[in-house]
Amino acid sequence: MIEEMDFENRIVSPEYNYADSDTEISLRPKSLDEYIGQDKVKDALSIYIKAAKLRKESLDHCLLYGPPGLGKTTLAGIIAKEMGVNLRVTSGPAIEKQGDLLAILTGLNEGDVLFIDEIHRLSRNIEEVLYPAMEDFSLDIILGKGPSARSIRLDVPHFTLVGATTRSGQLTAPLRDRFGVLLRLEMYTPNQLAKIVMRSSNILGIECDNDGALEIASRSRGTPRIANRLLRRVRDIAQVEFEGKITEKVAKTALARFEIDELGLDDFDRKMLETIILNYSGGPVGLETLAAAVGEEAITIEDVYEPYLMQIGFLSRTPRGRCVTPAAYEHLGIKPNSGTQTSLL
Ligand code: ADE
Repeated sequence: MIEEMDFENRIVSPEYNYADSDTEISLRPKSLDEYIGQDKVKDALSIYIKAAKLRKESLDHCLLYGPPGLGKTTLAGIIAKEMGVNLRVTSGPAIEKQGDLLAILTGLNEGDVLFIDEIHRLSRNIEEVLYPAMEDFSLDIILGKGPSARSIRLDVPHFTLVGATTRSGQLTAPLRDRFGVLLRLEMYTPNQLAKIVMRSSNILGIECDNDGALEIASRSRGTPRIANRLLRRVRDIAQVEFEGKITEKVAKTALARFEIDELGLDDFDRKMLETIILNYSGGPVGLETLAAAVGEEAITIEDVYEPYLMQIGFLSRTPRGRCVTPAAYEHLGIKPNSGTQTSLL
């Protein structure tokens, strides 16, 4: 068992973190033109938005899915802005009672965008209120209880629901079927992230050259939120220990200090891979067993840690469990053995 990490403070966590709040909002692109990467999603949205505007209709409901930190909330803001309407932001777990959703829906104006983050976490009775609202822009409200109960139908404005989820497979079929547009966000390439880092450093007034930006980008795990967070942390070191400018050397020194390696793996990633190698001969090991061994929740491992390790080809999910690949052995400097024993190189 390895010591428990403070997940909230993990510098390469793709999850939104309280310390990100001010800068993240100022760095968010406000239009599709400003938005770097996700070309397929941008092309599709651009057409749907133009078509809806031509017809003077609200945009179809959109489902954005993919790993955390890739810009789902940002895109919802851009959709609202490009459509010229208001954005109302909430999340699946925040809508506890049917009354919460009724209040949100009746408070919307015609055409508004309602963004529900983590939409897979909506409870079933809330989903039931949402179905007629999405489909016919109406609500069925039950007044009273027992034999005297009656139902009234209430109209709500034509709104666009933008749902975001890291797990599209967990959405119920009736909810998924009610989205007209399904958009999958992909992890960013280092070059795209380097452009984002350059854009962010301009906005924040940080001096950073192309090689410095690319060094930060290649350790950001395909995720703009991490790239922007690393940029701010590297700036601190650049100002205190160097002349303030972020170059490749400054970025390398700073990131080594945070124990973030060339591929963006941190302590936890390395320990998780080492646990599979040393305790389970490289796998397969079941998710729950692995979760217990590393002291983390299975769902966090699945949603937060594994996507990047799978993307870089270090981990595979097989029907019998998780397996570490030869590329990961090589990266960690561990020699694979034919038997169950594994030795450090
Ligand atoms: N900041 C965060 N994500 C971004 C993106 N996709 N494009 C531009 N700036 C960003």
